[in-house]
Amino acid sequence: MIVLLEALGCVSSTNDVLRERAAEGAPHGLAVWASEQTHGRGRLGRSWHSPAGASLYFSLLVRIRPGQGVELLPLAAGLAAAETVESLSGAPVRLKWPNDLLLGDRKLGGVLCEGVLTDGRVVAAVVGIGINVSLQTSDLPDSIAEIATSLAIAGYPPPPLESLAGALRVQALRRCEQVLDGDVGPVLDAWRERDATIGRLVRLDADGRIGTACGIHNNGFLRVRFPDGEQSVSSGEVHVLKPTELPHAAGH
Ligand code: BTN
Repeated sequence: MIVLLEALGCVSSTNDVLRERAAEGAPHGLAVWASEQTHGRGRLGRSWHSPAGASLYFSLLVRIRPGQGVELLPLAAGLAAAETVESLSGAPVRLKWPNDLLLGDRKLGGVLCEGVLTDGRVVAAVVGIGINVSLQTSDLPDSIAEIATSLAIAGYPPPPLESLAGALRVQALRRCEQVLDGDVGPVLDAWRERDATIGRLVRLDADGRIGTACGIHNNGFLRVRFPDGEQSVSSGEVHVLKPTELPHAAGH
């Protein structure tokens, strides 16, 4: 019998483990999860705080055939994670573009999608997902104490990590396959229903401009309206302004 969900102990990064498995010929749909990561990685070169037993560190291997569109895979993965956490814990998880999981205004989890190349072609994606489950406030380093949360901190019952990993494998695979099959409508619709940023003032990390988030395009880019017109943001990150950060002369 082929086991498609592997539970691991302490690893460097589940994305790195799965990349090695992919090179060894691991099948589409294989997922691994670990109890701890020594070198957990986040987006944009950041590290991902990964203490033992407190969070889910999960990666899924998605094989990609020539011609399949992959642009929406990161959004699909974030959506699947939000749906899974909500169904197991009851927590109302929303999404901040491109794929942060939010509970209230705080970050509950995130997605790091990495391509696997063979002869210059993307043949697979390693879809890494981190979700803060039973992490306590005292576990949070100062650098994220004000912006992160967990199911336990927010008062929701933390599901067993093994159950969460099993359900996440099924839902993430389903959402990713919808994207690969070109059936993107249901993914976009469901993502938009969970959009935490629409209508909020955001600052673009790339150039510091402030505008109003207007939702996502069908290609997954973020639409931001400025006084001089709308711009599509394709990569990077935006910061949602808090009431205390709002510009005095808004003009928006
Ligand atoms: C982010 O929001 O910056 C993305 C965080 C992704 C973290 C997960 S944990 C499992 C997988 N392994 C890693 O090293 N990173 C991802």
